[in-house]
Amino acid sequence: MSKKITAAITAVGGYVPPDKLTNFDLEKMVDTNDEWIRTRTGVEERRILKGEGKATSDMVVPAVQDLCKKRGIDPMEIDCLIVGTVTPDMVFPATANIACDKLGAKNAWGFDVSAACSGFLYTLTLGATLIESGRYKKVVVCGADKMSAIVDYTDRSTCILFGDGAGAVLLEPNEEGYGILDSILRSDGSGCQYLQMKAGGSKKPASIETVMAKEHFIYQEGQAVFKFAVKGMADVSAELLEKNHLTGDDIAWLVPHQANKRIIDATANRMGLSHDKVMLNIQRYGNTTSGTIPLCLWEWEKQLHKGDNLVLAAFGGGFTWGATLVKWAY
Ligand code: ACO
Repeated sequence: MSKKITAAITAVGGYVPPDKLTNFDLEKMVDTNDEWIRTRTGVEERRILKGEGKATSDMVVPAVQDLCKKRGIDPMEIDCLIVGTVTPDMVFPATANIACDKLGAKNAWGFDVSAACSGFLYTLTLGATLIESGRYKKVVVCGADKMSAIVDYTDRSTCILFGDGAGAVLLEPNEEGYGILDSILRSDGSGCQYLQMKAGGSKKPASIETVMAKEHFIYQEGQAVFKFAVKGMADVSAELLEKNHLTGDDIAWLVPHQANKRIIDATANRMGLSHDKVMLNIQRYGNTTSGTIPLCLWEWEKQLHKGDNLVLAAFGGGFTWGATLVKWAY
């Protein structure tokens, strides 16, 4: 009997643009201060993708090139590229298609997934099922967002939170039980009222009026989202542990979406995890939406060991949320 195929992460790549926007820069732009931002969110600086015509695919490409180099493969070997993003280069075609063209990944098909801050968990679960089906051998899943394209830099309640960045992982078949072991994903569209971009879709196409009303920027009712996020991310992470008969002691790392340090702390506490087991880089990159979780894996890659249990957890617009259990494969 053939063994069960799991999707193992076999390489990680990442890219953050070089330009920084610090809390002190923001102090000069809106009525805020470094102390408020640090204590309420944990963010100290974020990266901003600058340059005429630069888009999300311009961060996907170096992130994927990075993982190809590490794994010693050519982009021609990629079967499928899935990009989680809410800031695609264009409404269509998909950023994945544009990125494959720029990468020379001529044998890959691909598409984008819109799940806001849960974008990477959704794409990871999808990518894993493609590998588990036995039909595909090399699937790249990427979380990438150029949030600076949809942030209103006169709105102090949102502009302090977000940054730009991309992270990607390569998924390959494994028969030894490593890789993506379980996932609980959730969504609740009634959360739309609290976190959305009001215009630019089919409901309210772009017009002079929508531009004047600043409806192409992120609209967020922060406090309401915060309450749902704290409960959603902590509950689903605890549920994942319980379902897999694990406790905090069995987990090497929590890899949380980086929206707010207070949400991350609540999740770690609920899982019974000490804070030295929590990946945290919100202070340097802010909330890069789909990019946060793979960027954590990218930065912590050298500290991970074969067999480590990781819980990846996220909450975001939609609402969307979830948690994924990964057994590290290298
Ligand atoms: N600087 C100084 N004061 C500020 C700032 C700022 N940048 N922003 C807001 N304030 C003020 C408010 O005006 C308010 O003043 P008031 O009491 O006089 O009315 C006060 O600070 C408190 O404001 P709150 O909104 O209650 O602040 P809160 O502690 O809730 O923090 C935040 C706001 C950081 C946005 C928080 O609510 C949060 O993190 N929410 C969740 C975000 C999230 O997880 N989003 C999901 C992912 S994003 C995605 O999916 C695209």
